Amino acid sequence: MKALVLAGGTGSRLRPFTFTSAKQLLPIANKPVLFYGLEAIAEAGIQETAIVVGRHGAEIREAVADGSAFGLRVTYLHQERPLGLAHAVLIAREFLGDDDFLLYLGDNYLQEGLTGFVERAVAHPDAARLLLTPVADPTSFGVAELDGRGRVLRLEEKPDRPRSDLALIGVYVFSAAVHEAVRAITPSARGELEITDAVQWMIGRGMRVGAETTSRPWRDTGSVDDLLEVNRQVLDGMEGGIDGKVDPASTLIGRVRVAEGAVVRGSRVVGPVVIGAGTVVSNSRIGPYTSIAEDCRVEDSAIEYSVLLRGAAVEGASRIEASLIGRGAVVSPAPRLHGAHRLVIGDHSRVQLTP
Ligand code: DAU
Repeated sequence: MKALVLAGGTGSRLRPFTFTSAKQLLPIANKPVLFYGLEAIAEAGIQETAIVVGRHGAEIREAVADGSAFGLRVTYLHQERPLGLAHAVLIAREFLGDDDFLLYLGDNYLQEGLTGFVERAVAHPDAARLLLTPVADPTSFGVAELDGRGRVLRLEEKPDRPRSDLALIGVYVFSAAVHEAVRAITPSARGELEITDAVQWMIGRGMRVGAETTSRPWRDTGSVDDLLEVNRQVLDGMEGGIDGKVDPASTLIGRVRVAEGAVVRGSRVVGPVVIGAGTVVSNSRIGPYTSIAEDCRVEDSAIEYSVLLRGAAVEGASRIEASLIGRGAVVSPAPRLHGAHRLVIGDHSRVQLTP
């Protein structure tokens, strides 16, 4: 079996971060979300992998390289524009040949990994096999309707009136039959070739499409709230470990990881928390559920349930919560008695001010 990983797209809900970087490289516990997927693919015994990339392709190539660090053989396919998940399958035709393949959406995080799903797909070969999970609001996902025996009867992409609460997770196994389907369908109302339409086409031709349902944690990290929540889940399962320097005036509680080359001074850190190499935390309160990437500076501040990207600096912030702070961003106090907020923020940024 081969793997096709999708790491293109626009990431519009994660602007402004996606103006300068691929959403699949945003970190979860200081590791790009895409890496969790690639590790799970290798663990499931797959080696031959193609990654579909768009305008941030160069950055993804640099991060993943030939895939050998993951135990994979990775090739890259460039998608001119994000014309849909089925379009990505269309342009991968030559790479995929007639092999069965795992289609994996590079912004998904699946705690249970992929091994069981891939094993069951091999044991029960269907034209396609889907992974589903019950969600409270299915309107922002592909939604499946099943018969009593786990066969898929109908699929709809982001329906206004969902027929079930079963959302499609971004993990699918396909046989070569999908290639005819992606050639046959036409763009949806939003102008994309939808993989859900391709699967529906297969069902309409009498092909067997199987599904399994999981209730283990899964998230699409397409928005800031989702990203913070996945960060929380991953930190919850993480081990602590101090490789950097922590001075005697600091208190560390629970699972805290301080990377080699990081410094914590005069601070209280309540885990789970990760602090990346080259970062200095001084006179601050950090955590719980906070990831601070490499080369950051946090001074005289309190930060909880947040993610700081590489090179961010926060000083004099009395309380920061549920925040994602971009690469090289600076948060600092305004001059006293100024009585105004001064903001220099990028396009499509969101700032919430306390009155
Ligand atoms: O996350 C699960 C959902 O993913 C499913 O429930 C939906 O049925 C499925 O359509 C998909 O919906 P999204 O709206 O979340 O898809 P998104 O546009 O975020 O794209 C998913 C991944 O594929 C993401 O890593 C970007 C990449 N992509 C997307 C498009 C449209 C590409 O590489 N090329 C593309 O043309």
